[in-house]
Amino acid sequence: MNSSSDSLHQPPRKTSLLSFVGRRTRTIIGAIVVTVLLVAIIITLSALYGTQRDKTHANSDSSHKAWELKNFKTLVVFGDSYSDEGRGLYINQHGTWPPVGWQNPVTDLSAVGGYVWPRWTAWYSGGVSAMHNYAVGGSVCSITVTPKNGMAYDIQNGQMSAFLADIRNSTIDVPADETVYAIWIGTNDLGVVGFVQDAQGPGQTLNDYVECVFTQFDRLYQTGARKFVLMNNIPLNRAPMYALKSNGGLPVDQYWPNKPNNLTAISYRMAEIIQSVNTAFKYQSAYEMVIGNRYKGAQMAYFDVHSLFMDMYNSPSEYFNGSQEATVTVPCLTCKDMNYNNCTLVGCMAPDAHMWYDELHPSEQSSRMVAKEFTKLVQGDSSYATYWS
Ligand SMILES: *[C@@H]1O[C@H](CO)[C@@H](O)[C@H](O)[C@H]1NC(C)=O
Ligand SMILES: *[C@@H]1O[C@H](CO)[C@@H](O)[C@H](O)[C@H]1NC(C)=O
Ligand SMILES: *[C@@H]1O[C@H](CO)[C@@H](O)[C@H](O)[C@H]1NC(C)=O
Ligand SMILES: *[C@@H]1O[C@H](CO)[C@@H](O)[C@H](O)[C@H]1NC(C)=O
Repeated sequence: MNSSSDSLHQPPRKTSLLSFVGRRTRTIIGAIVVTVLLVAIIITLSALYGTQRDKTHANSDSSHKAWELKNFKTLVVFGDSYSDEGRGLYINQHGTWPPVGWQNPVTDLSAVGGYVWPRWTAWYSGGVSAMHNYAVGGSVCSITVTPKNGMAYDIQNGQMSAFLADIRNSTIDVPADETVYAIWIGTNDLGVVGFVQDAQGPGQTLNDYVECVFTQFDRLYQTGARKFVLMNNIPLNRAPMYALKSNGGLPVDQYWPNKPNNLTAISYRMAEIIQSVNTAFKYQSAYEMVIGNRYKGAQMAYFDVHSLFMDMYNSPSEYFNGSQEATVTVPCLTCKDMNYNNCTLVGCMAPDAHMWYDELHPSEQSSRMVAKEFTKLVQGDSSYATYWS
């Protein structure tokens, strides 16, 4: 026993009423002093934080000023099949990257079963007069980090090269104060050709994937780009490809030959991966913008698409409007016989009732929701965005 616990067992000292009151008063005065000090510290801290918030976050009134985009005229997008509007199709058909200056057609032939979110954004935003969409289905951020799909259409090599060639050859016009650059990448990096199957390159970690995304913003920044949107990863652990059985997880899958039986293991693993990288994106975007000064003079919005998807997942009827009951677990496209080796895909009657187009891709209606929010984001008004400058 140490001495302080010993003292607990000592009989109370005899004290006069006066000295007792004195002690009490001293205790009360002490408590008041401490309270006043604490309150002062809290007030100072919240004033400091408030200043920081005003400077960096946008909310309601100050928001337009915070994002400082006078006209939203040009949208530049890098990504995967969630955003691909024909570049991937061109590559499939021609076996080669499109020529410098190529503009994709406006098409609803996409992996989301309709128009992709950048197209809806251009429509919802009204004033967008140019869209340069470099996204290619199947892409990852860098084939160094996740090489398995073996394509050179990643952002690091393929997509960014195409963009830089367009800049060098002046085939696109991207005025800094009217152009928004969005990167939305991860579904392959983290998925079956990537981390969830331990298919990353030697020594590569989730951090290398996250850092790859910031590296692409570096390269955009060097071309004069100043308005960035970093879109985080959707809850892939809720997509039928990676979901728990009880959440509609599919035992066979057109994108995952020889899928392991244990859907719980797959889904939990994916949930952890998504949570880790999104947390990294969230805090690193704040760090790079405010402390690291990595993109001096630029603005970055962290678009929490994950939360948007969870809201859709939790309140389907508020977002999905097909002629059938909304569903966030059954995709629109399914294999008729559920036999991967002969998966005859069948479509659904009411595509807008589905959150997922197939086991991996958001539906067109989900894409519209992304576009709706992206449009608000650019106006400085999205509650799913954190604005940094
Ligand atoms: C684009 O620019 C590169 C180098 O700046 C040049 O080699 C190439 O020929 C140009 N391509 C076109 C189509 O103008
Ligand atoms: C499936 O995976 C979970 C989580 O890793 C594990 O707890 C469970 O025992 C596995 N089930 C089977 C049948 O292997
Ligand atoms: C569902 O709503 C979207 C707008 O969010 C609209 O474009 C679409 O046509 C609607 N679908 C149906 C089937 O009404
Ligand atoms: C796949 O299923 C379709 C329709 O059920 C059938 O016509 C076809 O022969 C099957 N193919 C194979 C390779 O089993």
